[in-house]
Amino acid sequence: MKTNVLMVCLGNICRSPLAEGILKSRVNPEKVHVDSAGTGDYHIDDIPDSRSIAVAKHFGLDISNQRGRQFQSEDFDRFDLIYVMDNFNFADVISLARNEEDKRKVKLILNEVFPGENVDVPDPYQGGEPGFEDVYKMLEEACEIIASKLTET
Ligand code: 4NP
Repeated sequence: MKTNVLMVCLGNICRSPLAEGILKSRVNPEKVHVDSAGTGDYHIDDIPDSRSIAVAKHFGLDISNQRGRQFQSEDFDRFDLIYVMDNFNFADVISLARNEEDKRKVKLILNEVFPGENVDVPDPYQGGEPGFEDVYKMLEEACEIIASKLTET
């Protein structure tokens, strides 16, 4: 059976498009479906931030075909795992959960690397280029762990 994984940040133009692109590059698309969304409605239908597109390209990934969309409560029906980038995203997504089963799907992505520490992927939107490379590396580490877990199952 296919596992459906959703990556969520605030704008769906910086962090979650990178997480989507990285995880997609490390899983079998016939077994794992990966998508991303933002809790906010600022960037619906927008392409990812040019700095995210550039850092992904630097590491060999093309994320320029992605488009922004807003997280909606129906996503709890469509996805098995919902990885959020920071504690604000966590609270926003949990506030849309309809039941305990929905809530159990929501995980902070860096808890894959630092279990139980509730570390945020920093929002690089206001910062410069180096922030995007740091974010890429954090997400790459997390996605490698997620990919290996999904391959085991
Ligand atoms: P993201 O970064 O959540 O990683 O996509 C942001 C992008 C845009 C905004 C906030 C965060 N914004 O307020 O427009």
